[in-house]
Amino acid sequence: MRRLCKIHFLLNTVAMAALTVGMNAAAPPAPSPQKAAAKPKVIAASQSPVKNVPLSKESLACLECHRESATPAATKQWAGSRHATAGVGCFECHHADKASATAFDHNGFSITVLVSPRDCGRCHAKETKEFEASHHAKAGQILGSLDNVLGDVVEGIPAGNSGCKQCHGGVVKVVGPGKLDAATWPNTGIGRINPDGSRGSCSACHSRHAFSASVARQPENCGKCHLGPDHPQAEIYAESKHGIAYRAKIGEMNLDSKSWVLGKDYSAAPTCATCHMSATPELPLTHDVGARISWTLRPEVSLKLDHWEARRADMQKVCANCHGSDWVQGHYTQYDAAVNLYNDKFAIPAKAIMKKLRDAGKLTPTPFDEKFEWTYFELWHHEGRRARMGAAMMGPDYTQWHGFYEVAKNFYTEFLPQAEELLPGVTAEVKAMDDHKWLQGLSKEDRAKIESFYQKRYGK
Ligand code: HEC
Ligand code: HEC
Ligand code: HEC
Ligand code: HEC
Ligand code: HEC
Ligand code: HEC
Ligand code: HEC
Ligand code: HEC
Repeated sequence: MRRLCKIHFLLNTVAMAALTVGMNAAAPPAPSPQKAAAKPKVIAASQSPVKNVPLSKESLACLECHRESATPAATKQWAGSRHATAGVGCFECHHADKASATAFDHNGFSITVLVSPRDCGRCHAKETKEFEASHHAKAGQILGSLDNVLGDVVEGIPAGNSGCKQCHGGVVKVVGPGKLDAATWPNTGIGRINPDGSRGSCSACHSRHAFSASVARQPENCGKCHLGPDHPQAEIYAESKHGIAYRAKIGEMNLDSKSWVLGKDYSAAPTCATCHMSATPELPLTHDVGARISWTLRPEVSLKLDHWEARRADMQKVCANCHGSDWVQGHYTQYDAAVNLYNDKFAIPAKAIMKKLRDAGKLTPTPFDEKFEWTYFELWHHEGRRARMGAAMMGPDYTQWHGFYEVAKNFYTEFLPQAEELLPGVTAEVKAMDDHKWLQGLSKEDRAKIESFYQKRYGK
């Protein structure tokens, strides 16, 4: 009991501050009918938080065991959270209607281990609605993709379960009352397909049991998934002036502040969240990470999204807090030019050659059973994405050496020669394009220029 009192004391000492500002943000939940009974008890700000325990009796019962004999460290994380100070205890998140697929009896309480966005949405309707409308919520629907053949078939199911699905989210299977199939659980992939029909996992960004905004604001949080050979956003950011400024000034980022409006609460550097999600004086916080991007850089050939002008205008409003409009327009001019270069010079021609080879029956319908298909896959899925993504977010090394250099090397020394071997003549039209004419040899003048450069620089 002494320990329990300590938790209450901790709660209560921090409660004052949080309670006065706290409750209105989580506008009264619209509880689903079956869960209405469990609406959390919340103490009124006018009452002394010392006398009033801001927790439901059910949550107090959870703490009886969980403060000591079960998951004591996780309980401490919760005790330091805004939820704790707002009276949101274990039971408020974990209770489940007996009829729900993941419910089980736990020491007299009907609870679920899996807490879905629908559960969080009882109190956070706005965030949940925006999240559900985003690409993040759709990230579990990758079954039909080429990558999925790669993960589940070419590599094997356990690779997909511990790899792809830990980022994208998989289907969580229920195998008995409250019993989740261990091949599908744990999983906090961003587009997890939950037994209640909802999509996603809020704890993909809001790590438990603190569920803090501050963790989610940090670039490392996005970097669990946004890194590596096919989408190195974390590395690009680290390389960029924005990432440098962030690391140098992290102490000035005010990450723990409740309000986090660019230019008001912090100004040292933008993080991933700043540009893609967070509030500025002109823009509200959004949980739709696609709201401010104009291109999609994922497919073989990049496309502009619907309403791309409005999305781009919003991103530029973020930049305008720190940069002048010519600077920002100049960046977008360079970025568009890089994407168009990749599309027109490499991606569209490569795609056309692939089609000709398929039409001529030179490739089997099975993906990844021929070397050439790997060559092509890496051209757009790895190298081509890196080049485009580097240009989007000011990472020159990813644009160049990990990007266009690799694209060009693959295109000229692997893709074109391998295609030519499969079907002689298939690359002729592409090679005749102005962009590729240099293959026929540099002019005498160009060669002389190179010679004289090295002469002057190194004296040989
Ligand atoms: C009588 C003690 C006791 C009470 C009361 C209790 N728990 Fe537990 N709980 C435990 C123990 C012990 C475990 C660890 C079991 C294990 O190791 O799998 C546990 C495990 C859990 C798990 C994880 C289950 C899993 O399968 O991964 C959750 C979630 C949980 N408790 C939530 C709650 C909530 C919410 C309450 C209050 C409504 C509560 N507990 C009340 C003792 C208790
Ligand atoms: C704000 C909602 C929320 C609150 C409050 C909360 N939990 Fe959880 N809990 C979650 C989420 C989300 C997960 C991860 C499951 C998922 O991804 O769906 C989780 C997972 C767990 C797990 C299983 C995961 C593991 O690491 O073994 C245990 C045990 C658990 N919670 C116990 C507790 C206890 C005890 C409390 C109170 C001290 C508590 N939770 C309070 C949301 C909450
Ligand atoms: C480290 C986390 C991670 C792993 C592992 C991972 N992905 Fe992804 N995947 C991502 C991210 C992040 C994106 C989006 C990148 C972007 O928008 O720049 C993505 C994009 C995709 C896309 C493109 C979706 C679209 O809308 O165009 C598909 C398809 C895909 N992944 C499938 C897979 C498959 C299948 C696997 C396993 C073979 C896998 N991924 C492994 C994080 C991951
Ligand atoms: C892609 C990462 C990500 C996911 C997934 C995510 N959030 Fe957030 N969330 C953030 C970030 C970043 C912030 C802090 C933004 C800020 O303060 O500028 C935040 C802030 C919040 C806040 C505080 C809002 C405020 O006005 O202070 C709530 C509540 C919240 N999220 C709920 C949710 C819920 C519910 C889900 C699941 C439906 C969810 N989040 C999923 C990144 C995420
Ligand atoms: C019973 C209602 C309730 C449920 C369920 C609930 N929350 Fe909250 N949440 C709150 C309240 C109240 C606050 C405090 C608001 C404040 O301080 O302004 C809060 C605050 C937050 C914050 C802001 C924390 C910060 O550091 O500023 C995040 C993020 C958040 N919740 C995410 C979640 C997620 C994710 C879930 C589901 C796993 C969830 N919440 C479930 C009521 C709830
Ligand atoms: C748990 C993994 C995960 C985390 C964490 C994550 N993402 Fe993603 N993100 C993905 C995946 C997977 C996709 C691709 C979804 C698809 O197209 O199917 C994606 C797509 C995106 C997109 C493209 C959206 C669109 O509409 O095209 C943006 C932008 C993005 N994420 C930004 C972020 C930011 C910013 C954060 C951190 C605040 C973050 N993500 C955290 C996995 C993650
Ligand atoms: C200075 C602002 C800024 C920062 C910081 C930033 N981004 Fe971006 N991001 C952009 C811009 C601009 C684009 C391109 C938008 C467009 O196409 O119009 C972009 C594009 C993206 C895309 C879309 C890729 C696709 O497949 O279409 C993803 C995903 C993404 N960023 C994730 C991240 C992650 C993760 C971080 C942090 C590690 C981050 N961003 C940091 C501005 C930023
Ligand atoms: C919070 C302020 C902030 C925001 C928001 C911001 N930047 Fe920056 N940006 C900086 C700082 C700081 C630098 C580094 C300046 C220096 O090195 O002198 C920088 C540098 C740059 C550079 C130069 C990169 C280089 O390598 O020299 C470009 C281009 C740029 N930003 C574009 C943008 C664009 C486009 C956006 C919006 C998508 C944006 N920035 C948003 C603060 C910001």
